[in-house]
Amino acid sequence: MSAARTPTTPRNAGLANESFARPMIALHWLIAIAIIAMLCIGFYMGSLPRGLPFKSTLTNFHKSLGITIFLLVLLRIWARSAYGRPPLPPMQTWQRAAASITQALLYVGMIGMPLSGYLGSSFNKFGTKFWGLPLPQWGWDDKAIRHIFFSIHEYLAWMLIALIALHFLGAMKHQFIDRDGLLRRMWP
Ligand code: HEM
Ligand code: HEM
Repeated sequence: MSAARTPTTPRNAGLANESFARPMIALHWLIAIAIIAMLCIGFYMGSLPRGLPFKSTLTNFHKSLGITIFLLVLLRIWARSAYGRPPLPPMQTWQRAAASITQALLYVGMIGMPLSGYLGSSFNKFGTKFWGLPLPQWGWDDKAIRHIFFSIHEYLAWMLIALIALHFLGAMKHQFIDRDGLLRRMWP
């Protein structure tokens, strides 16, 4: 006879108890916090009046942190291939597909955001300084091309916001409805 389930008994206890490697966990949370901060900084920057010295200081900080995130994401992709990842616990096919597509698109956003920002800034006379160090500028001062890259930058920002919301809701569903310990796999 199967044991009675109490409210504190996880439904799929043991199915999701394999953890991500520690460096993957550290990089997940470092990048997650930095990206959420960057989304807030980006929109706040846009609301500041032109010519304000604080706006250019914040823009330079945004660019430097964005390039730093890009380097951390490259490190994370390398760590993912070096350490692998635990297989997804048993779940319905649509849930598995939704999780894989969301995670793949999160990587597209994490790479696409810094690239579009850097390319947009390359078609601006100000270029990009990485914590004070001027980076190579691939373009020239061109408003139309700059506009294309910054439109991509903005669309990707909205895509990322939607994906983060989905990803967060998915994690909360596993934690509080399925109670399958999925969050523990990514917990420090
Ligand atoms: C994870 C990385 C990044 C995130 C999440 C991010 C996010 C954002 C957001 C939300 C905005 C406001 C969008 C708008 O209202 O148009 C923005 C604007 C901007 N970002 Fe980023 N960004 C990132 C990386 C970068 C990088 C690496 C650069 C340059 C090297 C950059 C340069 C800019 C600039 C110059 C703007 C103002 C664009 C304008 O004047 O329309 N960003 N960013
Ligand atoms: C908002 C709070 C967040 C929570 C609660 C959360 C939770 C989690 C959990 C539990 C996993 C492991 C899923 C599994 O076991 O397969 C995971 C994986 C992942 N998360 Fe998050 N996450 C958050 C924010 C973010 C953000 C902001 C990003 C990126 C923009 C992100 C990107 C990813 C990616 C790409 C994976 C797949 C693992 C990998 O290959 O790196 N997460 N997250």
